[in-house]
Amino acid sequence: MLHVIDHPVIKHKLTIMRNSETGTKDFRQNLDEISGLMTYEITKDFPLVDVEIDTPMGKTIGSRLDKDIVLVPILRAGLGMVYGIQQLVPTAKVGHVGLYRDEETLEPHFYYAKFPSNIANSMVLVVDPMLATGGSAAAAISRVKQTGATDIRLVCLVGVQEGIDVVEKAHPDVHIYLASKDERLNEHGYIVPGLGDAGDRIFGTK
Ligand code: PRP
Ligand code: URA
Repeated sequence: MLHVIDHPVIKHKLTIMRNSETGTKDFRQNLDEISGLMTYEITKDFPLVDVEIDTPMGKTIGSRLDKDIVLVPILRAGLGMVYGIQQLVPTAKVGHVGLYRDEETLEPHFYYAKFPSNIANSMVLVVDPMLATGGSAAAAISRVKQTGATDIRLVCLVGVQEGIDVVEKAHPDVHIYLASKDERLNEHGYIVPGLGDAGDRIFGTK
């Protein structure tokens, strides 16, 4: 269940992020902005419940989101998407899954997890800018499922077919949202054209 969000403003901002001359500040700012724009699309089918309210003109039936929203960034790079999404859903709670990818084997290594207490009944957005081999995303979703959560969506900026296949095979119930489906992985497991090392570009660690 792949959704590639095709939008000219997202394409424009993603091009700024891809540019190797873009520094940490602008990389982070465009990541914030794209994350917010994607949220508008990702949440468009979120279920609502009716609520009766008093307006200055009398009673009316309005709507509120039926479920709480929990964001689960995959550390570190996923943190770069939290602020932009919270601009649209400021009440979203945040869990964390810590994983790093072994540079040789490309296997994900788990080091941390912490979740809000209401996660099992919430709409969960697992977020990470990069969907490369798919190992990290599939492992993070498995860890989230251990909490009892069932409504889970994966939100990445760029991904490749290989990663999509891995997540779809492990988690056929999870919708995957991308701003771009890129060409391929290189011999080091990096996405081409991709963004480079997203964590390093967000946090200025290289
Ligand atoms: C990057 C990225 C994803 C993962 C994607 O994180 O943010 O989590 O690699 O690769 P995969 O699809 O092949 O698993 P990394 O492990 O470099 O950690 P970092 O975010 O701490 O830099
Ligand atoms: N992780 C990144 O940060 N970039 C890639 O292209 C692949 C994995």
